[in-house]
Amino acid sequence: MMKIGIVLFSTFLFIGSSVGLSCIQCNSSHTPECTVVPSQVNTTCESKNCFDTQNSDTKEVVRGCYTEQSSSVCKLPDCKICDFDRCNTKAYNIDCLLCESPKDENCKTELHLIKSSCESTACFASINRGTGEVHRGCKEDTSACPGVNDCQIYYCDKQRCNTQKLPITTCLNCMGPDCVDPDPSVVDTMECEGGNKCITKYNDKGQVFRGCTQVPDEKCPDGEACRICESDKCNFGKFPFQEPATLSCMKCDSSQGQFCSENDLVSGVPQKCEGTYNFHEKEACYVNIRATSIERGCFFELNSDDRKECLTKGECRVCHSEGCNRYDNIIEYPGYKCHVCDNCEKIAGRNPLECSPMPTNKNGGPGCFVNRNDDGTVSRNCLSSSDCSGNKCVKCNEDSCNTMDAPGKGSALIGVKGLIGVLVVLSYKIL
Ligand SMILES: *[C@@H]1O[C@H](CO)[C@@H](O)[C@H](O)[C@H]1NC(C)=O
Ligand SMILES: *[C@@H]1O[C@H](CO)[C@@H](O)[C@H](O)[C@H]1NC(C)=O
Repeated sequence: MMKIGIVLFSTFLFIGSSVGLSCIQCNSSHTPECTVVPSQVNTTCESKNCFDTQNSDTKEVVRGCYTEQSSSVCKLPDCKICDFDRCNTKAYNIDCLLCESPKDENCKTELHLIKSSCESTACFASINRGTGEVHRGCKEDTSACPGVNDCQIYYCDKQRCNTQKLPITTCLNCMGPDCVDPDPSVVDTMECEGGNKCITKYNDKGQVFRGCTQVPDEKCPDGEACRICESDKCNFGKFPFQEPATLSCMKCDSSQGQFCSENDLVSGVPQKCEGTYNFHEKEACYVNIRATSIERGCFFELNSDDRKECLTKGECRVCHSEGCNRYDNIIEYPGYKCHVCDNCEKIAGRNPLECSPMPTNKNGGPGCFVNRNDDGTVSRNCLSSSDCSGNKCVKCNEDSCNTMDAPGKGSALIGVKGLIGVLVVLSYKIL
């Protein structure tokens, strides 16, 4: 009887030590999944127990084999000790920031000021891209994503992890030769937090780079091959980007027997440019005055060597407005403004608009006009945009100068209006 007992006991021991106890072993500081879905690291224990526990302050979750040494981590009553294979899988909660930007503006970026929280196995942060409304909370919140179509939601499973700066834009992310014209379905992507956008540019080593902007309001340097766009994965397409040409230029070559002098072209009609242009450069017309011939045309129809030559040789000039290369001496006046409107007897508080650049020789330089049309209405515009040749058109040459009345309105009506104006001014003064 005694013998049988010893045999049974030692058999039990033998089985026990050869198989051992299997416990999940993890630390949520290293593997966040440890908190909720314990990471599948099995370890065979010397001991008879597994444990899992959560630190009430840091919310760190630790799981493993229970031994003497575990007692510093595994403190009762919070620590769960158990005794069968893979028994230490309790899902613990984490704290999540809890706020909504319509009620608390700090919910957007000033997250250190958010004091309220909730407990769950996962947190979320969401933004409605249309309204900019931001919500943060626990994953069970059913109103998590207001305005479902425009809403982006992000989940995370670390203590107080829902601190994403929103919106997050996903951008293509690559560099170097493979980045010149990448296949959007295979190229890497990256998420840009805090309202940063997608950018495509040359980096300082001259390689094509696609990724996120450094700051949300980053601008491409003027005239550099660079493009910033706002929607997810918008930074695709062969670089430098090409745009279909839209400008029209005078096109002729006197060496081919074509009329091409300034005088020949005064009333000529410019022709549409063909092909594409580098979007970061301005579309342009050129005139190249050689010793024995003159050539005019669209700048981007030239090959790149000819373009370089034109920009560096003195007798080749470029300009950027419709048909502007009809003149030999092209001087453009960019950046001046005029009031632009139809049916506007008075300006009535409109802001002047920038005029398209105007080459010399046309209407005597930059300027604005006001015109009484045949139907009696009044139009105002830039001299570079519209013709001002009739006797009911008045020009002026200062910035935003076309505020004057148009000629040829019945004087009786103006008289009445003037009188009303005086009465209004007087009555204000009296009051
Ligand atoms: C869990 O990992 C953190 C970070 O490395 C460490 O400070 C902590 O002591 C670990 N906890 C346990 C119980 O090993
Ligand atoms: C751990 O053990 C379980 C149960 O036997 C098994 O399903 C799982 O694949 C194991 N995981 C690893 C990483 O070995």
